[in-house]
Amino acid sequence: MNPNQTKRPVWLDEGGRLWVIDQRELPHRFEVLQIQTVLDMIQAIQSMVVRGAPLIGVCGAYGMALAARQACAAEDPRKTLEELTQTLRSARPTAVNLAWAVDGIFAQLAGESKAASWPEVALSEAQAIEEAEVVRCRSIGQFGLAPIRAIHERHPERPVQVLTHCNAGWLACVEYGTATAPIYAAHEAGIPVHVWVDETRPLNQGSRLTAWELAQKGVPHTVIVDNAGGHLMQQGMVDLVIVGADRVSRNGDAANKIGTYLKALAAGDNGIPFYVAIPSTTIDWMIGDGVAGIPIEMRDPDEVRFVEGLDGDRRTRVLVPPEGSPALNPAFDVTPARLITGLMTEKGICAASEAGILGLFPEMGGYRP
Ligand code: MRU
Repeated sequence: MNPNQTKRPVWLDEGGRLWVIDQRELPHRFEVLQIQTVLDMIQAIQSMVVRGAPLIGVCGAYGMALAARQACAAEDPRKTLEELTQTLRSARPTAVNLAWAVDGIFAQLAGESKAASWPEVALSEAQAIEEAEVVRCRSIGQFGLAPIRAIHERHPERPVQVLTHCNAGWLACVEYGTATAPIYAAHEAGIPVHVWVDETRPLNQGSRLTAWELAQKGVPHTVIVDNAGGHLMQQGMVDLVIVGADRVSRNGDAANKIGTYLKALAAGDNGIPFYVAIPSTTIDWMIGDGVAGIPIEMRDPDEVRFVEGLDGDRRTRVLVPPEGSPALNPAFDVTPARLITGLMTEKGICAASEAGILGLFPEMGGYRP
């Protein structure tokens, strides 16, 4: 399939079959995979065929539609649904969108009297979640455009320099992305932007995925090693940082791809605005203190020990450290709210604090950790 034939990382074809872009293969090969069972979906989430918090939520929702189909044909539909739901919701632990989507659909199905109706109910809810995520991301872009426009008005003679970490683009969401939505909005509005793309070791979501996305959309960008950001900030080469998040606690602490915290420290030291762009589905209303409470996924140390890339036209994997050296692979870190200039959400930009968040989402005031 040609990349231009799909503008979403997950979709249903006319025959109702579910497909995803295999993000492990990008940027050098564009491949798609059919997801036929809930176990296929669990594997796709765990092995990073699909990744990024909002996308994991949407895929979890489609996974529930597949789980519902399997459960209603089982001897004990309710027990089977419960078991499949548990396995699906724990496929990856940090991005709260997965548990949010899966739990929401499970609660809906639990209220249905006939198991035979589950697949249809779950599928239509998954489609609704997908479309709502698109609307949220577009809105994040509109609100997030304001600080970029303000910098442009102060320096109309040069591009606005944005630094981002990991991939919080349309591949990680459905369309637009979270951190990339304001960048795409600026680009479409004719504001010149240039993006410093952290490569984002160990799996290089920045150099593989964000760079690919920006290139596809014609947005000027440059890939840098993860450790270059602080230096560029000191040299006046970064106007603002925009990153996504996998889970934001009630007090505004933000868990995002490992290395984000260091960027926030460097931005703070250099007086550079540091924004976290999130849909409200990424807020965990039940965690009061993100540094203490957000679970951090530990992944396979081999992701650190080996690097993958293209050798001629062959994808290859090479070992970097000494054969016997152990490695540790925490996949996320938590940036404390005090280092965050603002949260860019679908309802506007707010302070990274409980008061700031509840100012935009007053209906969530009743939820308590
Ligand atoms: O491990 P991943 O690739 O699923 O990590 C998710 C991310 O890409 C990020 O941390 C991202 O910045 C937030 S998701 C929009």
